[in-house]
Amino acid sequence: MNIEKCYFGEAFGKAVDKYTLTVDSGMSVSIITLGGAVNKLLVPDREGKLADVVGGYDDLADYVEGDGYQGAIIGRFGNRIAKGTFTLDGVDYKLFINNGPNHLHGGRLGFSHKVWDAEAGIEEDGCTLTLRYTSPDGEEGYPGTLKVTVTYKLSQDNALSIKYHAVTDKKTVLNLTNHTYFNLGGFASGKIFDHELWIDADSFLETDETLIPTGKKISVEGTAFDFRTPKTIGRDFDLSYEPLRIAGGYDHCMNFTKRAEPMSEARARVYEQRSGRVMEVWTDQPCVQFYSGNFLNNPDHDFKGGYKQGLQNMFCLETQKMPDSVNRPDFTDCTLDVGETYETITVYKFLTK
Ligand code: GAL
Repeated sequence: MNIEKCYFGEAFGKAVDKYTLTVDSGMSVSIITLGGAVNKLLVPDREGKLADVVGGYDDLADYVEGDGYQGAIIGRFGNRIAKGTFTLDGVDYKLFINNGPNHLHGGRLGFSHKVWDAEAGIEEDGCTLTLRYTSPDGEEGYPGTLKVTVTYKLSQDNALSIKYHAVTDKKTVLNLTNHTYFNLGGFASGKIFDHELWIDADSFLETDETLIPTGKKISVEGTAFDFRTPKTIGRDFDLSYEPLRIAGGYDHCMNFTKRAEPMSEARARVYEQRSGRVMEVWTDQPCVQFYSGNFLNNPDHDFKGGYKQGLQNMFCLETQKMPDSVNRPDFTDCTLDVGETYETITVYKFLTK
């Protein structure tokens, strides 16, 4: 096992470093301190050959200016908040509007655009990178000074875990996630339609044209969203089906059939047949945003090695609470009070078959 650190550039007047954590199988993860973004993830295939399976940029400027939140920690609130407003204990809060009429992924300069303090360490069974950021009261419109710690751990059994921890000094709302894009054949290998996907979710959230949940939970039964039996992402990818048309593909909050808390089994699994790579998602969170990369057509930002991504070339499985739950008492609770500790974990485990 070993850890390397190098300078990656400068953003917002601060130096940004890149840490690479490597375990004995050869698997490694590179994380930059801007946004705590996973920049590279080398994973063995069934022959032991490594490929980089995540999206990202070579150039720091693309992380600052590009959209898509490649690999980044998302906060304070994953996904959209309708009209960027909510009321907490009778007080109205106004957030930055950065996505049509709505607030998305923490606003103009959310956690994906902060330079985090970093500390690397080697443990008996893996390497860690601990990232810390204190978000001031009122940042992007959110109440409370929020102290956040995110710990990445790459373990000897080829699992990348992400632990989130936060405390606040005033009642607030919080929904942290990670926005890594995957293509298990390698990030530059084209469409994801052949990936076989299993998600143990029995319903998904309907959205309006601005991708805000309407409040309706739809049963996956008999729909393109039924991944309870593994099927390829492409099999039912039909944009004439209304929910897929609205979003340009899969971009929906899938509600797990059961909570795995404490984590006892995977909640989602992806298999790429040519390489044999399998990725399992273990989490204590109630939902996952399955996003099939429907906006990946920005020609201004070249991906690593100059690669041009295209629509549905990578997917995200963003474990989270329900989008816009700040405005819907019947959705998952997303408040964090003084004296409480926000603690969640998600693990992406890699295997082959
Ligand atoms: C996803 C979201 C998409 C899109 C994307 C960033 O998490 O569900 O609608 O905003 O982030 O391009």
